[in-house]
Formats: sequence, C-alpha cells, structure tokens
Amino acid sequence: MPDTPCQFVILAAGEGTRMRSAMPKVMHGIAGEPMLGHVLAAVQALGGAEAAVVVGPGMETVGAFVADRMPGASLHVQTERLGTAHAVLAAGAALRPDRDLVVLYGDTPLVRPQTIDRLRASIGAGAAVAALGFEAVDPTGYGRLLTDGERLLAIREHKDASDEERAITLCNSGIIAISCSVARDLLEAIGNDNAKGEYYLTDAVEVAVERGLGATFIRCDEQEVLGVNTRAQLAAAEACMQERLREKAMAEGATLVAPETVFLSTDTVLGRDVVVEPHVVFGPGVRVADGVRIRAFSHLEQATVGDGAVIGPYARLRPGADIGEKARIGNFVEIKAATVAAGAKANHLAYIGNATIGAGANIGAGTITCNYDGFDKHHTEIGAGAFIGSNSALVAPVTISDGAYIGSGSVITRTVAPDALAVGRARQVEIAGWAERKRKARQRGED
Ligand code: UD1
Ligand code: MG
Repeated sequence: MPDTPCQFVILAAGEGTRMRSAMPKVMHGIAGEPMLGHVLAAVQALGGAEAAVVVGPGMETVGAFVADRMPGASLHVQTERLGTAHAVLAAGAALRPDRDLVVLYGDTPLVRPQTIDRLRASIGAGAAVAALGFEAVDPTGYGRLLTDGERLLAIREHKDASDEERAITLCNSGIIAISCSVARDLLEAIGNDNAKGEYYLTDAVEVAVERGLGATFIRCDEQEVLGVNTRAQLAAAEACMQERLREKAMAEGATLVAPETVFLSTDTVLGRDVVVEPHVVFGPGVRVADGVRIRAFSHLEQATVGDGAVIGPYARLRPGADIGEKARIGNFVEIKAATVAAGAKANHLAYIGNATIGAGANIGAGTITCNYDGFDKHHTEIGAGAFIGSNSALVAPVTISDGAYIGSGSVITRTVAPDALAVGRARQVEIAGWAERKRKARQRGED
C-alpha cells in the first residue's frame, strides 16, 4: 500500500430519475443498507474516516445518513449538475494536496475495498491517474478505455466515441484515482467541449497524458462495478450482494440448506453450526449464537438469538427480541421488544410484545400480551417457570410471578403471586339434557 494517505470523494448527486422514486437514488437499499452505506463501508474498511460526499440540492436525507454512518465525512452540495469533474470539485477544500484522490460513485455499491486499494496502489511514478476498467458484455453507454499496453491514453465517452472506439469492450467503471499533488490542477484543467457539454472527470486522463504525467488502468469483474440506475439494476445488485453474504456466512461455519432462498443483511452475524433452513429472511441487526437452528420461513430483524435456540418454522422476531439459550420459538409466534430467558418455550401461535419471560417458562398456544391500550405500550412480566395456559390474554401492565399457573382462556389483568393458579374466565356451566330437549323441540316445529 502506498504511504500517501487517501481522500475519498463519493459522488451521490444523481437524482436517479429512472428509479421513479421520491427517495434519492443512493438511499435505495441493498441487503438492508442504503447503497451509499456500502460505499462508505468500503471506505471505512480502507481506514478512511474522512470521505467527502457530494450530493445534489435538497438531499437532506443523504446528509443525515452520512452524518450517522460516518461522522467524520464532509458533505458538499453540487448546486448545478455540470458533470463528474465539476462534481468532484464541489468537494472544495476537502481535496487536500497531500492526499491521493479516489473518486467513488454512490450508486456503484458492490466495489470491494481490495479493488479500490489495488487502484490507488497503481498510481505513482509514471501514472498520475488510474482508472478502474472492466470487460463489458455490452459496452453501450460506457466510456471506453483507449490503451497502449499498460498505459491509458484516454477515456472516450460513448457519445463522443468513433465507431472504431465503440468496438472497444474495455470500459470505464467511473472509479478513478489521481495522485495528490496534481489532482486539483488536472480537475481544473478539464473543459466541457464534448457531446454532453459536461465537465468529464474521465478527461483527467488525457490532461495527465498531455502533461507527460501518464495514466494507467486496472481491471475488475463487471459485476463488481455494476452501477444502479434502474430498479432492475437494483435487484441485480441485491442478488450479487446476497450471493457474497451467503458465501461469507457459510465460510464462517453456518449451514444454509438452500442458500439461494436465504436473504441476509450486511450486518447479519451467524455463529458456528447455525443451521438456516430454506426461505429465511434476516433484516438488519440480527445476531445468532452458535448451534441455533432457524427453521423454514422465519423472518428476523434487530433480534438476538442465544446458543442452541430453535426458531420457527414461520416465526417472526421483531426489533428488540432477545431469545435466550435453548429457548424455543415455534410456528406463528411473533416476538417484539421482549426478552425470553434460557429454556423458555413459546411453541405455537402467540404474540409476545414488551415483555420479559423468565427461564423455563411455558407460553401456551394462542397467548397474547395485550401491550397496547390505544395510547401507550405496557410491559408484561412472566416469571421463571411460569405456565401460561393456551389462549390467554395478559393485559399489560401485568406480572405473572415465578412458578405461577394461568388457566387456559384466561384474561389476566392483575398481578399473580408466585406459584399461584389464576383463572380469569367465566366458570363452566352445565345444563343436563338441554341438547336433547332442544333437538326434540325443533322436530315438533317449535323454536
Ligand atoms: C460515467 C463515466 C463513464 C463510465 C460510467 C460508468 C464520466 C464522464 N463518464 O458515465 O466513463 O463508463 O460512468 O457507469 O464520468 N454525477 C454528479 N454530478 C454531475 C454528474 C454526475 O454527481 O454533475 C454523478 C452521478 O450521480 C453518478 C456519477 O456521477 O453517480 C456518474 O454520472 P453519470 O451521469 O451517470 O455518468 P455516465 O454517463 O454514466
Ligand atoms: Mg451512470
């Protein structure tokens, strides 16, 4: 790695009109994270904590996101969209003469830190500029790399290219590195005499070559520099990212029975010997400890699962679900903002929200914590070893103490003492012979 520190400029000014969205393009998500977040993560992986992000006017949501994810980053507004070189210059004072410049795009989220590092390592003596190129299956629309061996002579935008140049399949990804001492000079020397009337960042190559500073290029897979302009490309990027995340999860010791059906987030943590059955979705913020089995068709987000627990099939862990060791959360059970201690079970058809469930407690089928009164959320406490009979409604705030037993079908509104039985339903009434009398009355034509 070169010694010179690096300044990353991330272009995120695109409105993304072809996405037909009210949201700035770079905020569209891939694997539970806005595209821009992936680029920021790549920069962070390279130790760069001071990226400059160039946004368009009125993109406050992008600014807030950057401030949250990378507080050290500076934000710059490109008020007029006059081209990629103009956009980089919008970073102003952030373009420091003592730092090599690396320009990334907020809508090119799959680029790997190693590739960026390889690119910046290729500038230096003999090459003040380096472009990241790829062999395009269909090069239409891309800038073409005009090369001579290892040397890069120019990048020709599709619109400005001759037929001969358009036959070139080696294309520009857009990602470029420029040597620190000349970066600003080169950018400022770029004109806008081209088909689009824009200041093209790509022209930094020709300017460098004219000045005898030289330029070069490296290659990467086309997939890695997939740019997202449409929802279809967003889906293609998602598919690619999912494949990477699945491979990583398996490499780290989780079994994905049918990996192509499992959807992960960038921050999903799966322990060793976790088995994930088909059709499981991990939203952001999920941590799963060792030896857990996540059974088919479960959905988890912002949840923690302890060693050896079994989740699903068809379970839903919502934000704040914290499932203890060897606990069991079965089919059609929804858990939100609740701690379920070790060995507790909720095996069928239940809603547990804003609750604490003690170790070894048993939550019967159809148990509902009635946590919301139409105004506020309230807490339900269920003690260790408690037994909640099926189809019980626990009206919060309420406490079921350790070892207590709730009769099936109860509506519980008051604290239940340790080891007590509480039954909160009408007493059973039986009328002997009633059914027989009823049938006979109907036969006689009476009501
Ligand atoms: C650019 C490259 C092209 C490359 C292609 C790869 C230039 C001149 N061309 O073309 O060689 O093959 O990317 O996808 O760089 N942007 C701004 N402000 C502007 C203009 C653009 O922030 O004034 C941002 C856009 O939001 C986008 C990126 O820069 O994220 C690239 O701009 P775009 O207009 O998409 O360039 P392309 O024509 O795709
Ligand atoms: Mg583009």
